[in-house]
Amino acid sequence: MIFYFSGCGNSRHVAETLATGLNDQLVFIPEAERENRYEYTLAEEERLGFVFPIYSWAPPKLVLDFIGKMNLNAKPSYVYFVCTCGDNCGQTEKVFRQSLEPKGWELAACCSLQMPETYIGMPGFKLDTKENAQRKIANADAKIETLLPRLLDKGHFSDMIVGGMAWLKSKLINPGFNHFATDDSKYRSTEQCIHCGRCVEVCPLKNITLEEGRPLWHGHCTICMACYHHCPVNAIQYGKSTEGKGQYYFGIES
Ligand SMILES: Cc1cc2nc3c(=O)[nH]c(=O)nc-3n(C[C@H](O)[C@H](O)[C@H](O)COP(=O)(O)O)c2cc1C
Ligand code: SF4
Ligand code: SF4
Repeated sequence: MIFYFSGCGNSRHVAETLATGLNDQLVFIPEAERENRYEYTLAEEERLGFVFPIYSWAPPKLVLDFIGKMNLNAKPSYVYFVCTCGDNCGQTEKVFRQSLEPKGWELAACCSLQMPETYIGMPGFKLDTKENAQRKIANADAKIETLLPRLLDKGHFSDMIVGGMAWLKSKLINPGFNHFATDDSKYRSTEQCIHCGRCVEVCPLKNITLEEGRPLWHGHCTICMACYHHCPVNAIQYGKSTEGKGQYYFGIES
């Protein structure tokens, strides 16, 4: 069974590819959360996988919170995660292992895949060029091909892009990011809005409604940026940080 989260589709692509290759079932974490589905039955020897994007050098808080609430019929025999990142992951492996400790589960394998950047919510952060984005996707797809047999064999490995100043990023910056930088009150729609409702459809947390044809954000946001990136007329902005930075989601025509 593979539990996954994705805002802009990179991690969904990875989760779907793994599910096909491993013949595993997929569970979308926000959907399970909405339906209070925390009890799961694993078959004997079934793999337990997690796929998610890196948010501020750690797994998204909503993934860790979900793991905390999960109940399984037995201790899983093989646990792994595959994460996608624009650049690097800091101490994600350590943070993830710590989230399993209270449950008595052990992490057997983990791997990070560089995929196109999606975060542009602060000054200085920008998207990849089209060429870079395509190169990252091609490399990630090639790496998934090598990953599948290792997961099928239930191999034990750690194949993570950690990057520099890992402790600082994951232990100091990450809690600050979760506390101060996930505020959706900075989102706004501009006069370009054509009232299509795409932002409402793509929000994984169902955090947006249309009020008089324009999006309204409701304060339980994970800053996945899916609403910004999917707007067909680029009418969503996050403060001033996103202006003129372009859009990306997995599968975008460009
Ligand atoms: C809020 C946020 C924080 C991010 N933080 C990091 C990070 O710390 N390191 C990194 O390499 N990429 C970071 N990224 C980039 C994403 O991890 C990467 O683009 C990922 O593939 C997006 O996956 P998705 O399309 O499934 O949402 C961040 C993206 C977002 C939206
Ligand atoms: S996706 Fe863009 S155009 Fe469509 S309703 Fe949302 S803000 Fe308006
Ligand atoms: S409101 Fe936008 S950024 Fe926030 S969770 Fe929904 S799609 Fe993601």
